[in-house]
Amino acid sequence: MSAQEKRRESRFPGSLFALYFVTLLLMSGIHMGLVTLINENLHWPTIVQVLIPTVYWGLVAGALTLFTRYKIVKTYDQPMKELAKAADKVAKGDFSVYIPPIHTSNRHDYLDLMFLDFNKMVAELGSLETMRTDFIANVSHEIKTPLAGIQNYAQLLQRPGLTREEQETYISVILSSTRRLSSLVTNILKLNKLESQQIAPQFESYDLCGQLSECAIRFESVWEEKQIDLEANLEDRAIIRGDASLLELVWNNLLSNAFKFTEPGGTVTLRQSSDETHVTVSVSDTGCGISPEAQEHIFDKFYQGDTSHATEGNGLGLALVLRVLQLMDASIQVESREGVGTTFTVQIPIRRASEREQTV
Ligand SMILES: Nc1ncnc2c1ncn2[C@@H]1O[C@H](COP(=O)(O)OP(=O)(O)OP(=O)(O)O)[C@@H](O)[C@H]1O
Ligand SMILES: [Mg+2]
Repeated sequence: MSAQEKRRESRFPGSLFALYFVTLLLMSGIHMGLVTLINENLHWPTIVQVLIPTVYWGLVAGALTLFTRYKIVKTYDQPMKELAKAADKVAKGDFSVYIPPIHTSNRHDYLDLMFLDFNKMVAELGSLETMRTDFIANVSHEIKTPLAGIQNYAQLLQRPGLTREEQETYISVILSSTRRLSSLVTNILKLNKLESQQIAPQFESYDLCGQLSECAIRFESVWEEKQIDLEANLEDRAIIRGDASLLELVWNNLLSNAFKFTEPGGTVTLRQSSDETHVTVSVSDTGCGISPEAQEHIFDKFYQGDTSHATEGNGLGLALVLRVLQLMDASIQVESREGVGTTFTVQIPIRRASEREQTV
């Protein structure tokens, strides 16, 4: 006999109901009737008089016992068995399981709520599983492409009689592939640390305007090479409390996207303003824009909408930006029209720095 067959069908054994039956019989006083019946000198009319209530109470006790058993099986055993079956399926890797609640939503009891929570847990597990497999597929893909490039160009470099120019071209392709691999690994590690809360934001008071100008200046070679106009509209000074190194990551990613997706001759505008409660920073460009469908996914890991720039990055930039901003209670919005341009707007809540820090 298998373990499955040996398993008890109910949490409530038959002996419990037998006990219940006997107790009911005793409570009805059936033993008195039985004692009377044992008496040898009884006449038929007396026997019938005693027998009728005895049989009656016997039937009532039997019916009550069966009814109680039916109710317990229906309201407790059956739902529990269903839950056990569903849990077994989930344990075997089937995340499509759904147990419907027993009652309608206005009559939910604790079992209904348990089923609903179970369904929620299974759905979460399912989406985590999909995310895990997608993540592995994406990482493998992102690693394979530059690795193939390195392999091909290293093989080409082995050929005898290459000109100096050819050698330099091949080497530069290998170098850019290794740079891509290294930025992929760095970004994955950063994202992983941010998501698993290994990086806790270190809040300090600093001048956001100074940081924005420094970040923008670092892209000077890019805007000069692509002949893109950079317009900056910043306040003189805006002291905020935030994690400077994490926010630097945000500005670098937004600016690098703006420059990457803007054609030569275009304009990138960096704006910053503040009011009582928030500091607002926006990065606008006159680039290719993002379609409404793509806008729904740009913050997903590894999502790259514009395939023409797919080799220049891994689609992790905005996922990192979003995570950092979440940690900082800040928000980000995107407005974009295809062929016209894109604006990313970040709003950071002002955490009041102490007066002394404000005047430093
Ligand atoms: N300013 C922008 N203009 C047009 N499209 C954009 C802009 N910013 C982001 N996108 C779209 O969103 C996608 C995701 O951006 P994200 O910064 O996450 O990745 P990436 O820039 O392609 O790669 P990485 O940031 O890892 O170098 C981009 O591939 C692009 O399709
Ligand atoms: Mg990017």
